[in-house]
Amino acid sequence: MTLSGSAALAGVMGCPVSHSLSPRLHGFWLQHYGIDGAYVPLAVAPVNLASAVLSLPKLGFRGVNVTVPHKEGVITFLDTVSEVAQRIGAVNTIVVGEDRQLLGTNTDAVGFMENLKQNAPNWRSNFGPAVVLGAGGAARAVVAALLDAGVPEIRLLNRTREKAENLAKSFGRSIVVLDWDHRSICLSEAALLVNTTTLGMVNQPSLDIELDTLPDYAVVNDLVYAPLVTPLLDHAGLHGLTTVDGLGMLLHQAVPGFEAWFGVRPQVNDELRQFVLGTTA
Ligand code: ATR
Repeated sequence: MTLSGSAALAGVMGCPVSHSLSPRLHGFWLQHYGIDGAYVPLAVAPVNLASAVLSLPKLGFRGVNVTVPHKEGVITFLDTVSEVAQRIGAVNTIVVGEDRQLLGTNTDAVGFMENLKQNAPNWRSNFGPAVVLGAGGAARAVVAALLDAGVPEIRLLNRTREKAENLAKSFGRSIVVLDWDHRSICLSEAALLVNTTTLGMVNQPSLDIELDTLPDYAVVNDLVYAPLVTPLLDHAGLHGLTTVDGLGMLLHQAVPGFEAWFGVRPQVNDELRQFVLGTTA
């Protein structure tokens, strides 16, 4: 990899950050496109968030990704926050402008939709309601993307119903909040099921749901990517449904940041997937 004294700098700011796949992902693209640049992990404790973010222009960074637990807290320190990031209430990408201003945006919604389009190319937003499980930050990005795509109805279910109610209130139109216990029966006529909860992740319980009432044209998308094939996706596959795993969203959400910092719009393809999964060196 080329790394000169004038290399373009970016990274990922989080706490902890050691689990992040982003350095590997951006490192692949930097190498692949022969870019004079570096993307580094930045472990920043919450108490140091302000000084770390405000130092980015002084250190010559082109920008950073922001991950847990800073996605909401970082907003206060930015000069401009994009409309979609304001709606989601979280920033995952910061770009340092030529004028050293800090612009925050959220690429999770576009990452979710690009991944869905790439892996379920036959799905159309007007096919029917979408069922979204969960009401955390990931759910907010998914709901924003689905509303922007024109999905006629979103059925939102969360273990803590109040969080779903709050999410629905802030997004307004087209969201129907249902009880968590109704997650199997509410699937009738749904064209898309998205799991944004942590259920099914390694060391977490599986998502207990019956998929019998989903139509055969429905798509099941699990945002969990460890394991890549979750029990939910396995179950959906056995029902002959189209499945979309969570790794693709992670890869696609990285595209706009890389383009803004390094000047090349990178491709998400199988070679990248295999590399990020660690199956190729
Ligand atoms: P993210 O930012 O990735 O969305 P999060 O904000 O921590 O993460 O949200 C985690 C989601 O998983 C929440 O919707 C959570 O439900 P609660 O709001 O009731 O906590 C959901 N979740 C986690 N463990 C769960 C469990 N055992 N059963 C059902 N839902 C669970």
